[in-house]
Formats: sequence, structure tokens, C-alpha cells
Amino acid sequence: MRLTYVTLFEGLIASYFEDSILKRAIAKNLLEVDFLSPRDFTTNKHAKVDDYQVSGGAGLVFFPQPLFSLLQTLKKQSPNAYIIFPTPAGKLFKQTDAKRLAKKEHLVFVSGRYEGIDERVIEAFADEVFCIGDYVLTGGELPSLVMSDAISRHIHGVLGNEDSLSVESFENTLLEAPCFSKPPLYENKSVPSEFLKGNHARILSLKNKMAESKTQYFRPDLFSRFRVKH
Ligand code: ADE
Repeated sequence: MRLTYVTLFEGLIASYFEDSILKRAIAKNLLEVDFLSPRDFTTNKHAKVDDYQVSGGAGLVFFPQPLFSLLQTLKKQSPNAYIIFPTPAGKLFKQTDAKRLAKKEHLVFVSGRYEGIDERVIEAFADEVFCIGDYVLTGGELPSLVMSDAISRHIHGVLGNEDSLSVESFENTLLEAPCFSKPPLYENKSVPSEFLKGNHARILSLKNKMAESKTQYFRPDLFSRFRVKH
């Protein structure tokens, strides 16, 4: 999959691909990452990309020209490019979106800064508009990374052990059960004794109970959906 990040701050994003799983995915040619800066598509002499809002109101916004030129050029070169705008004023990004988008060949994330992006750019180019959670960040770079990380995990070969994809949180509407490692007793705290006895059916049943309690405690919204289904 090709990932293109449209951003004024390439460094914020590039460093995430310099370690660990996504670095390996690039080395294995499963991911290809590139960057475009709206500043390189400006027609004004100071390479300005932001301006005041015509409505008045606080803060600057990206004005249309640089992003229009950039995205028109990109679409000509890569007609299948699927363009995503992260913004707090979007649809909540979910695991199901991550899985679905993992099948695309080219994703483009357009990171806003300041107060956002002139709405006409979004109307003209957005395939999807996503919010990653009910809080406001200083720009679209982190949301772009959050989404692309969640998406990349679903590309075959990116994760070392793909079994983990089927038991993790959100797959079955319950959060994942807590996990434990060695030693069985640490700082006076022990792992659940059932986990040490090797009876896989009983371990699974305990894990399910723990997942239910965790979900009920932390995510009553998910738990009530689970209760309807089971
Ligand atoms: N830009 C700033 N905050 C955001 C959020 N919560 N989701 C997506 N994009 C954003």
C-alpha cells in the first residue's frame, strides 16, 4: 500500500516509520510512504498557505489554492488515490474502517493545521472525513498516523503473528482480556491461578469473564451492545 501524507510538518510523521513494525513493513515493500507539502504548490511569492476566515472568527485556515493544486496534481498521477481528511468535525474512526481501508492501494491523508481547511477543499476531494476521538489536537498529523497505523496492521504480512488480530479489543464488541507474563508472583501480586493450570477451556472461560467485566467497567456503551447480541 502507498501512504501519502500531505503536511507542512513531514518530520512529525516520518519519524514514526523509523522504528519497529512499520519500519519493517517498508523494508518488506508492504508499505511505501511519501510526503507532499502544500507550500510547494503555492502561487504567492511568500509561499503562504493560511489566511483569515471570511466569516471573522478566531484563527487562520488553509486557503484553497495550494491544496487544490496539490490534490489535482496527485489525482492526475494516481487516479485511485483515496483521500482522507482528519478533522474533529468528522465521522468517528473505528476498527471496521481500519480493516476496510487496508484493502486500498493508495491512501492520502491531508493534515490540517491552524483552525482547519477551507471547506471547499474537503468538498472537492474528500473520500472520507474522520475524527479519531472526542478531543481536539493541534493538527491532523497525529490523527493521520493513528489511522494509518491501525490500517497497516490489517495488511497481510505487516504483523509477525496475525492470530492477534482476531482476539483483540473491538473484534467481538468486548475489550481484550487482561494479559500476564512471568513470574507468576511479582511484588506480592499473583497472576490468576487458573492461568497456570494448563486447562485451556477453563482459561478461555475465565478470560471471557474478565473481558466482560473490563468492558462493563470501562466501556458501558460497548457492553450494552454485547448484551443485546448474547
Ligand atoms: N484534528 C484535530 N483534532 C482531531 C481529531 N480529534 N480527530 C481528527 N482530526 C483532528
